This record gives sequence, C-alpha cells and structure tokens, in this order.
Amino acid sequence: MTTLPRVTGEAVARIEARDKVTGAASYAADHPLDGLTHAWPVTATVARGDITAIDDSEALRDPAVLAVLTHANAPRLADAGDPMVAVLRSPHVAHHGQIVALAVAETLEAARAAAGAVRVTYDEQPHDVVLTADRPGLYTPDEVNAGHPADRRRGDFDTAYAASEITVDAVYEVTPLHNHPMEPHAATAVWDGDTLTVFDSNQGSTVVRSTLAALFEVDEADVRVVSEHVGGGFGSKGTPRPHVALAALAAKAVGRPVRLALPRNRIAAVTGHRAPTIQRVRLGADADGHIDALAHETVTQTSTLTEFVEQASVSSRMMYASPHSLTTHRVARLDVPSPSWMRAPGECPGMFALESAMDELAVACGLDPVELRIRNEPPVEPDSGRPFSSRHLVDCLREGARRFGWHDRDPRPAVNRDGPLLIGSGVAASTYPVWVFPSHAEAYAGSDGRYEVRVNATDIGTGARTVLTQIAADALGVPLDLVRVSIGRGDLPAGSVAGGSSGTASWGWPVHKACADLRQRVSDAGGHVPDGGLFVRADTEQEAGGGTEYSRHAFGAQFAEVQVDTVTGEVRVRRMLGVFAAGHILNPRTARSQFIGGMTMGLGMALTEGSFLDPEFGDFTERDLASYHVAACADVPEIDVHWIDEDDPHLNPMGSKGIGEIGIVGAAAALANAVHHATGMRVRRLPIHPDTILLGL
Ligand code: MOS
Repeated sequence: MTTLPRVTGEAVARIEARDKVTGAASYAADHPLDGLTHAWPVTATVARGDITAIDDSEALRDPAVLAVLTHANAPRLADAGDPMVAVLRSPHVAHHGQIVALAVAETLEAARAAAGAVRVTYDEQPHDVVLTADRPGLYTPDEVNAGHPADRRRGDFDTAYAASEITVDAVYEVTPLHNHPMEPHAATAVWDGDTLTVFDSNQGSTVVRSTLAALFEVDEADVRVVSEHVGGGFGSKGTPRPHVALAALAAKAVGRPVRLALPRNRIAAVTGHRAPTIQRVRLGADADGHIDALAHETVTQTSTLTEFVEQASVSSRMMYASPHSLTTHRVARLDVPSPSWMRAPGECPGMFALESAMDELAVACGLDPVELRIRNEPPVEPDSGRPFSSRHLVDCLREGARRFGWHDRDPRPAVNRDGPLLIGSGVAASTYPVWVFPSHAEAYAGSDGRYEVRVNATDIGTGARTVLTQIAADALGVPLDLVRVSIGRGDLPAGSVAGGSSGTASWGWPVHKACADLRQRVSDAGGHVPDGGLFVRADTEQEAGGGTEYSRHAFGAQFAEVQVDTVTGEVRVRRMLGVFAAGHILNPRTARSQFIGGMTMGLGMALTEGSFLDPEFGDFTERDLASYHVAACADVPEIDVHWIDEDDPHLNPMGSKGIGEIGIVGAAAALANAVHHATGMRVRRLPIHPDTILLGL
C-alpha cells in the first residue's frame, strides 16, 4: 500500500460547500412533499395560570384551516421524560410564550391567520420572574449542568480571604442571552401508517428519534429522522424541542404532512436560552499577586418545568492555583421560559466574571494582567488534584502577548486618547472542558475501490462532515475523494449530540476505529476487496464511556483593543486576537471559522446582545433580531486566530480537543477589560451599552 500524505491537519474546504451556496442543500423546512400543510403556534399570553377555554370557531371558518390542536383535542402524547417536548398535554401554563395551540392549514398564511384568530381564556395566577441575589426561595441544587456538584470547598476561604493583603470583591451580571441560530427550529413530518418520517433541525437526531418513538409509542425502527444540514443551534437544538413533537403530532391529527418552522419571535420562549447570572467573585492575594483565596458564587434561575443550572462557578475550580477556594450555585425557580444550553454554558458567563476579577486584581496589585495569570498557574487541577492531560495556557498568553504587541501597552487607564476616542486593550484567559461521548460507526469497502462510512453525526455548520471524511481517509490510507461519509440520519449508527464541543472526538473515534480495522482487513485480503465488499462496525462504548484520571481542558488567551467614543458612549472593537491550545487542529480552515465564530459571539455578548424579563408580562422584551442585536459584519473587526499545536496522548486517536465553544469563553472579559483600560470605568454588567458608558464617564 502506498503511503499518502495525511489529510487531517489540512485546510480542506467543506465537502457540501457548493450544495450550500447553490441552495441544493436541503434544510428541515426545504423538503417538498405532496399534500404538505403548514402549522403556526398559538402562544400563552399569561406567565402563569390555567387555560379555561379555547374558542377556535373564528379560526375554523376559513376552509383552508384543517385543525386547531389544543390540549383538549390533540392526540395525547406519552411521557418521554422531557418536559420541553410534552406539548399540548395540560391546560397549565408554566410561562409566557408556552405553546398552547397549533393551527394547521393548507397555506402558511392561512395557518398564521387562524392562530391569530384563536381565543384563549385563562385563569391567570400571579407570576414571579425577577431574579435578584437576595430574593427569597434561592436553593442549592443537587447538581448543576454537566453533572458538577453545586458547591465545592477546599481549605478555609473565609480565614484566608480575611488575612489577604490585596482583595477584590465584585459582582458581575450577565442578562439572559438567546441562541438565535440562523435556521429556526423547524420540522416537516409525515406519517405512513405507523411509520413516521421527520425532516428536523437539531444537534443530534439519535435522541430526536428515540424521543419521538417514546412520545408516539412506536418502535424506533419506525421513526426516520433526517437532519442532513442544520443551520446552527448553539445548544438550543441540543435535545428535541417542541417543534418536532408538534409537527409529528399535527401530521398524525390531520393525516397529511405538516411543516412547522417556529417564528423567530417565538423561539426564545420554547427552545431555551442562557439563564441570567449574578456572580460574586472574591479574590485574596499577596502584594505579588499570588492568590490565596478565591470565591465564586453564582445566583441563577430555572423554570418550573425543568431544572437547568448554568454552572458559572465551575471553571473557577480549575483555572488558578489557590489554597483556599469556595465555589457555589444558588437557584431561583421562577415562572420563566426554561433555560438550556447556550454556547459554553457555565464557562462563558463564569469566565466573564472570573477574568474580569483577575483584571481588577492585576490593577489592585499594580501587576501586568498577563503576568498575574502566569503567576497563578496551577501544577495540577486544584480541586481534584488530578494532573492536566495538557495545559498550555501560559504559552497561549505569551504567544498572544507577542503577536498582539501587548508589551508596548501603557498600563495606565484612560491615557490613550485620539480626539473624542479613548483607546484601550484587555486580555482574558479562556478554557473549555474535553467531552467525548460513546458513538458507533460503520465502514464499507467496495470492490470498486471506494469507501463508505456511516455515523449519525450532525453537521450544524461546523464542518463535521468534512473533518470526519479526513479522519476516515487517513485511517483507511486512501485519498479523500474515495471516501464518502454519510451523516445526519437517525437510522445511521448511533452518534452522540453535536454539543459540548464533543462532536469531532466522539464521532471521529469510532470512524477512526472502523476505518483502521477495515484497512487491516483489506490488507489481509491482499489489498483486494472481494465482490460484495468488506464491512466493519465499531463503537466506543468502552473507550468513551468511562472516566479519566486526567483533567482534560482546552485553553486559550483572548486579547482585544477597543475605542470608546466619549461623545456617544459607543464602544467599537478595533481588533481581537485569540490564541488557543486545543490538541491537534484537524482542519485549520473549519477550525479557524469555529474560533472566529465563538469570538464574534463573545463580542455580541459584551456589547450588543442581552435581554430582559419584563416583570409585568413575564417574558423577554427582546424576542426578534430587531431588538436582540446579534453582532453584524459592521460590528466585527478583523479577528486574528492562532493556535499552539498540542501533542496530548490522553484524548482520542486524533489527539483533538473540542473547538466549538472555547472561542466565546473569555472574549467578553477581554473586551470589558479593554473598556476599563480605555476609560478607567469598570463595567460589571453586560452588555456594555452606550448609556452605561456615558453615565460613567
Ligand atoms: Mo453546545 S451549548 O454544547 O450545543
């Protein structure tokens, strides 16, 4: 067998790029079906209560309207153990914006008009949607997101903090944030007898399939879920969401295919959001900046339907050496839409707080913030004592400082002025854990010299399909164009969710295993594939299913330069640089895009994104892209990204760590720290709006 150059590590363009730009790639609401009907949701206008009556007579007057489904008349779904998909089961309203009925019609316009004509009467009850750090009813959850304990202590924080020479004690706030993937949550569903097919937009169709089978009490084999192309999710499609259950339910009820694409302004209430956090960070250090005491206490909220706890204090358990530490989470259960995953849940808001506090400590100690972080580098993971599988934070900081020109910076705040503009720069560290979940794959060698690999991976726009093809080609030892990788269908070998930055590791591992095995079999057959081909199956239930003796995380350093307009209060980003250490980078082209995307989302979090739960209505006041400002091209400067290649043998056969989320972590802190350097103002509540700046200047 000839030796080919490895294609992992090469900047291979997306395999489906042409399909996407020519419109040939089909998304969930793109599938034309005979007899297709359209659905539009009716959502609750109270934040808590019970439905006492639903009048659909006006809605049904239009002959184009096929049905108005409600809890009173819809086929009853079984309990699938997930309250987010338990649709139209109960007259109880748990939050404003909950879907209480679904209009189904021949056209989208008729469905929308019908939904608007449905009259719902409620027995309204008082609601409570306001999170404060001192409100009654805060409780300690059994655990927080990703299975972490709510509280951890080591040493004696109180005594050490009281004895510290230099202290920082500050409260940081992040408002609710919305995922807003470009493609809304959409599904097209059709029943053929007891067999269900759905085209669905999700981050993992293996679970969508098993959930639909449970809801409708049919065999998984009779549920086909197709999710070939997905236009983003950022966590909001991480588990099945109501749209897919509703589309399938409606298709069953009307006996025709049904398409439901959630309107943009209905998404935030029913598909999850990043819960707001109020985080108090206390740091106690000596005059040289060595941290002796570190406390990170998070207050956040969940809904009455589910418990989801944003684990914002968790990264403080592994970032810096400190003999004494206290990290806690307290939760309010409110009448709010259910929070869920949003890009780097926990680390993203948590590192905004910790890395802002580190900047405050650097100022208090009169120390360079890069140097402060280097001085507090832990030899092992502080809370667990486990060794790091690899940790190159210091290298990222040093390399970033060099590339950014950090050392030319005058550390004094508010001294760099250009007319009405104040200019400043900031730095922050970033981190994200290594997740890997068991997955299955199949590899097939044809007698024509071509290969087919199957794994139910989901490409949410990351380049998963492309990277898996690279991994397969290398493991097979054949050129890229001889390998076809099939993903995005529930009937393929089970793959884990495209979440937790785990996809490439989780799917790539069984792909690598199956392909390496297949290569051996082809070799054993004398390099000749027999008629009928050769077939191999692999899974990583063993390898990826257990724990690890290592603390495994990716790290990075974020640098930012801003200009603050003293007349308008506007903050503009001049440049950003991220340097990351995330194992081997398997595709520099798609990886760069992930890092830049994360950093851009962090820019949005710092400056433009944010929402507010209106106490009267009990819902977000920002529900569409006109009021919730996702950063646009004009907001985003050139973003520069570099990485330090790590050789970490404790990961997976590709040596990769996840890259989808780390880019957002620390970006907002770097920007807020830059605003402080520019102006001397410390903004501890995001987003940093012009009015905040003007009031402070
Ligand atoms: Mo990501 S929030 O794990 O989809």
